Amino acid sequence: MSQRIGVFPGSFDPVHNGHLDLIERARRLFDVLYIAVLFNEQKQALFSVKERIGFLQVLLAGSDDCRVESFSGLLVDYARERNATAVVRGLRSGADFDYELPMTLMNRRLAPGIDTIFLLPAPEWVFLSSRLTKEVGSLGGDLTGVVPPLVMEALRRKLG
Ligand code: PNS
Repeated sequence: MSQRIGVFPGSFDPVHNGHLDLIERARRLFDVLYIAVLFNEQKQALFSVKERIGFLQVLLAGSDDCRVESFSGLLVDYARERNATAVVRGLRSGADFDYELPMTLMNRRLAPGIDTIFLLPAPEWVFLSSRLTKEVGSLGGDLTGVVPPLVMEALRRKLG
């Protein structure tokens, strides 16, 4: 039987516990899950792609079904190159859905064979975003239990 391959794309700037919750859920659906970190020079990021990939690789060490990579250009081209049948995105709210819907429909138009699957995070992560972790981190707030310790340390070094 052919392998079920999925792609979980995002900026991951930085990865937080909501992302990790979604990765755990997505892993159950696929034989191989590519965690695809967007490389976009136009998009201002706090952490370099190398740093963002590094966090994910450490956090997913031992998860042989998860492969962390960067991608640039069209997501659907990357997904096709990896023989993926689906892209996974998280939905926290109606606002997320409004953001995702046009991208999903455009992606489907560009690549009809690749579906987008939406997963809901556990309720405790519905409030969480990378933007908030950076804001709270920059103001000295405590991010214990919200981001993994290595990310908390990196935020402290970068923003502290
Ligand atoms: O974590 P983010 O920033 O919400 O992720 C957004 C991402 C990476 C999924 C989106 O920006 C993307 O797919 N970028 C790749 C470029 C692309 O394919 N654009 C057309 C989308 S219809």
